[in-house]
Amino acid sequence: MITLNNLTVRFGGVTALDAISAQFCQPISGIIGPNGAGKTTTMNAISGFLDYQGVINWNDETVDDLNPFKRTRWGLRRSFQKEQIADDLSVLDNLQAIADNLPLSRSEKRAEVEHAIESMSIAPLANRKAESLNAYEKRLADLGRCIIGNPKIIMLDEPCGGLQQEETDHLGELILKIPELTGANTLIIDHDVDLISRICTETLVLDFGKRIAFGETANVLADPKVKAAYLGVEEDAK
Ligand SMILES: Nc1ncnc2c1ncn2[C@@H]1O[C@H](COP(=O)(O)OP(=O)(O)OP(=O)(O)O)[C@@H](O)[C@H]1O
Ligand SMILES: [Mg+2]
Repeated sequence: MITLNNLTVRFGGVTALDAISAQFCQPISGIIGPNGAGKTTTMNAISGFLDYQGVINWNDETVDDLNPFKRTRWGLRRSFQKEQIADDLSVLDNLQAIADNLPLSRSEKRAEVEHAIESMSIAPLANRKAESLNAYEKRLADLGRCIIGNPKIIMLDEPCGGLQQEETDHLGELILKIPELTGANTLIIDHDVDLISRICTETLVLDFGKRIAFGETANVLADPKVKAAYLGVEEDAK
């Protein structure tokens, strides 16, 4: 369970997140909202990349006192809107680099990398340099990086952005396996509402840094406030 309690982030005069509270209890949860709503800022705060006010907990543990590096060692993984894979390294070395930062023995690290490669079915890509991968293959490698080392929280920022429908469908299936592969709580940002409906049991909706809805995804998407803010439907349209 991931708990946000009054999470507030300010950039100078801009309040990017305004006292957001939500308790993500499901294995996979969504965060949606229009451009600039504060979705990535939420993930950046959870990552420890920004100063914030409020409390971020996982079950009974708080991550507030940990810097980003310590949060990774503790069990936080994420992907970014643009893949963060190192182009001049092989897929295998990219995965190994994540494992190398974790407090594991050499054999445990190797086992974790093998598990990620097997789980994502990317053995044929393992020795390819990341620069030779297409966008979809990079996303698979990114997902592999996220499941290494028994993570507690995984955050995916637009994992299917720019992908073809068939690729999105397949990546969605892989994301659905994350809870059984890792036991982590997973948060997903995406503009693809069909994808969010399919893989996220519960969803938080942000708009201008405020929480406008939170709950079961189907209920949230049917909420007139969400339709008005996000789906471009007039709130009082008949
Ligand atoms: N480092 C920063 N410095 C100043 N303002 C920022 C910074 N990062 C984000 N913002 C502002 O905070 C607000 C929220 O941005 P954020 O990137 O979280 O939006 P988002 O919901 O992820 O949007 P998108 O769907 O376009 O990715 C925006 O007004 C943005 O301009
Ligand atoms: Mg964003």
